[in-house]
Amino acid sequence: MTPTTVGILDLLRRSQGYVSGEAMCVQHGISRAAVWKHIGGLRELGYRISSAPRRGYRLDAAPNSPLPTEVLPLLATHRFGRAYHFLRRTDSTNRVAGELAEAGAAEGTTVVADTQTAGRGRLGREWFSPPGVNLYVSIILRPRVQPVRAPQLALVAGLCVVRAVRCLCPGLPLRLKWPNDVYCDRRKLAGVLCDLSADMDEIRHLILGIGVNVNLPPTGFPGGLAGAAVTLQEMAGIEVSRPQLLAGLLAELEQAVELWVDEGLGPLLDEWRHLSILEGREVRVHVLGQELTGTVTGLSREGALRLRTATGKVREVLSGDVTVAEW
Ligand code: BTN
Repeated sequence: MTPTTVGILDLLRRSQGYVSGEAMCVQHGISRAAVWKHIGGLRELGYRISSAPRRGYRLDAAPNSPLPTEVLPLLATHRFGRAYHFLRRTDSTNRVAGELAEAGAAEGTTVVADTQTAGRGRLGREWFSPPGVNLYVSIILRPRVQPVRAPQLALVAGLCVVRAVRCLCPGLPLRLKWPNDVYCDRRKLAGVLCDLSADMDEIRHLILGIGVNVNLPPTGFPGGLAGAAVTLQEMAGIEVSRPQLLAGLLAELEQAVELWVDEGLGPLLDEWRHLSILEGREVRVHVLGQELTGTVTGLSREGALRLRTATGKVREVLSGDVTVAEW
């Protein structure tokens, strides 16, 4: 979107009613034809704009889309989302953010797509990423902490998703499934994918990728996901604003990541444990090709999952894929 298009949108937003084409021409030093082109561009992005002879143009509705023009005015952050890349369509926002990070992009740089053609989940899985409905976001982090702490960021991010969702949709039965899933009503609402670039001593960058199922109708999930995944709209019974959810999420993340860098998981652990869906459950954990079974007894201060195995021994698992034997 060009600065002139943004300026025209701003004029429309600030006016209660119609803005004359003439006013737009004068303000931006452009022709009537150019105004028409900018209006056309905005309509293509989903802005509903009426036009009436001799009155001009009126903004009737903004799209429920994480466009920069919708998200940036809502940002309450200092760094997260301040460099904001919106893509209508890309393969994976984590890949794009990784490239930007390699090229030196600052911490907090955010990549958002309306749809992903190769959205990635953990362990090589696919992340279903249809257009117009959900959130797909990747944020570049450059935390000055030891690389061994990196997996904890998935826990931090999951908690931030819960907090941000709660602000818009209070009262939902949100839970966290170690290490990276947000559940609602025993179905998956959101997931976190961390891509780490580090050497032994320091993290070069970490891409925090988050996908949230927001407004997809329940029938919209493909076969394998139906019944296993859920959307906010389905649970809350309202269409949820993607810009508001994203702005809230970025604010939660900025604050929680800063706290985590300074103080570790400690200040977040009680809230995390309280939300954990695995507490006391019989689970199978796949770790590096091995399967461990046991009862979840909690979370360590470092964010490892604690399991009591059949022999009574307590094991701590730092990363893995958890299946619950029975809900
Ligand atoms: C998981 O639950 O397995 C993690 C899912 C992470 C999906 C998000 S969507 C934005 C970002 N880009 C990707 O390709 N994946 C993450």
